[in-house]
Amino acid sequence: MDKILILDFGSQYNQLISRRIREMDVYSEVIPFHSFPKIIDPDVKGIILSGGPESVYDKDAPYLDPSIFDWNIPVLGICYGMQLLMHHFGGIVEPTQKREYGKSEIKLAYRTLLFDHISSKSIVWMSHSDHVRKVPEGFKITSATDSSIASVEDQLGKIFGLQFHPEVSHTQEGDKILANFVLKICNAKQEWNVSDFIETSIHEIRKIVQDQHVILGLSGGVDSSVTAALLHKAIGSQLTCIFIDTGLLRKEEAKEVMNGYGNLPNLDIELIDAKDRFITVLKGITDPEQKRKIIGKTFFDVFEQAKASHLDAVFLAQGTIYPDVIESQSVHGPSATIKSHHNVGGVPEEHSFQLLEPLRMLFKDEVRRLGLALDLSRDLVMRHPFPGPGLGIRILGEITEEKVKILQDADSIFIEELRKNGYYDKVSQAFVTLLPVKTVGVMGDRRTYEYLSCLRSVNTTDFMTANTSDLPHWFLELVSTRIINEVNGINRVLYDITTKPPGTIEWE
Ligand code: XMP
Repeated sequence: MDKILILDFGSQYNQLISRRIREMDVYSEVIPFHSFPKIIDPDVKGIILSGGPESVYDKDAPYLDPSIFDWNIPVLGICYGMQLLMHHFGGIVEPTQKREYGKSEIKLAYRTLLFDHISSKSIVWMSHSDHVRKVPEGFKITSATDSSIASVEDQLGKIFGLQFHPEVSHTQEGDKILANFVLKICNAKQEWNVSDFIETSIHEIRKIVQDQHVILGLSGGVDSSVTAALLHKAIGSQLTCIFIDTGLLRKEEAKEVMNGYGNLPNLDIELIDAKDRFITVLKGITDPEQKRKIIGKTFFDVFEQAKASHLDAVFLAQGTIYPDVIESQSVHGPSATIKSHHNVGGVPEEHSFQLLEPLRMLFKDEVRRLGLALDLSRDLVMRHPFPGPGLGIRILGEITEEKVKILQDADSIFIEELRKNGYYDKVSQAFVTLLPVKTVGVMGDRRTYEYLSCLRSVNTTDFMTANTSDLPHWFLELVSTRIINEVNGINRVLYDITTKPPGTIEWE
């Protein structure tokens, strides 16, 4: 399959570049700048150098491996990537007087193939503190803003540089510019699609697994569910899913998960009821980190025990997806990824299983498309993320059975109303938290003294940054009224309007 290789120089947008290209049905991969392959891969039709926070003159700045030019395929440098190219060929890069950040307008000097069908004036997104002052010989400036060179190209039409970020949505014609590069300049074929992926994966899974047994930790979330569906299609009854009810799940979740795979008849799910065990080990624990550790360890122990009764299993399947892979191979070294906290079925250091991660090259939106193609229900596929420690990190302070019940009831009202009013798919993640604080209220003629709860709803594309959802006042009031009327134990409801950063999405 044709592909575009993205060399990661530390940009926060590198995953976005890859996604934009895959949205064109062309396969793309992100690799750290220092691991450029030694052997030419004929499937690679173009190379993109991502942006990065460094300056080309910094002592330890990520460098350009000149062997990329031996491949004799088109190269596009974005932001830092362009500066590297200019520096490499003898141009001058220097600090700008003022950091250019945000929207700018570029004016085209030449409508080359990269700018085919692009307006002569176009809004782009800039984020740089260095700029190219002089382009090397053999290059021309193809566009500029009032204060900087915005794009360059060599005379042969093989090497390109963009000072702005075509991959972010604020660059109005960014998709078209990237498509011009990928489809018209690199001539990459649009061969990346979900149904082919299913066919190839099934073939590969069968080849690897043969007649052996696989176990999978099922959380009810999108990634593990789609992994289960794919494996089920590939190997049927050779798959056993282990689902642990920690007691810290959403209301009715265990039941829903057990019934929820209606389209996967005969999917073998083993339910382990560990509610008592979790509540016992969490007794008296109030510190968030300690809670996370205890929940993680208990989960691991329960899963280990469950695995022990499947000694015939050779493979452990996991719903690892591409952002986790990119993060762990990032130029900054393995960073603390969301999943590594302890995802359901987190792999022990010395596990005796072979890992099976069939979604490891897919982005979340691709996993969702795959799930739909595999006939999983839309509700399941479009589910908001749910953290491994579950409600344990949404009940602030000590966790008790009573509080779990209160929170489950409140949370299910919020989610139900979001769905009913068409907001569920418009927000990225929504939930309720329960505070260890009681306030005074009045209901009927009665004075109440009950817990405080808070609604949280965020919109985000990557969960690294997030804005609070702009839910209308009438809707928040409706949810608040229902919670206070229907949930025994809560008499006041707040709405969290903290963005991330400085806040995190979860409260603990
Ligand atoms: P924060 O709170 O870090 O959350 O802004 C970002 C995203 O990660 C989820 N999250 C977790 N997911 N195990 C998980 O599998 C965890 O321990 C965990 N902690 C946070 C959170 O729900 C949000 O989607």
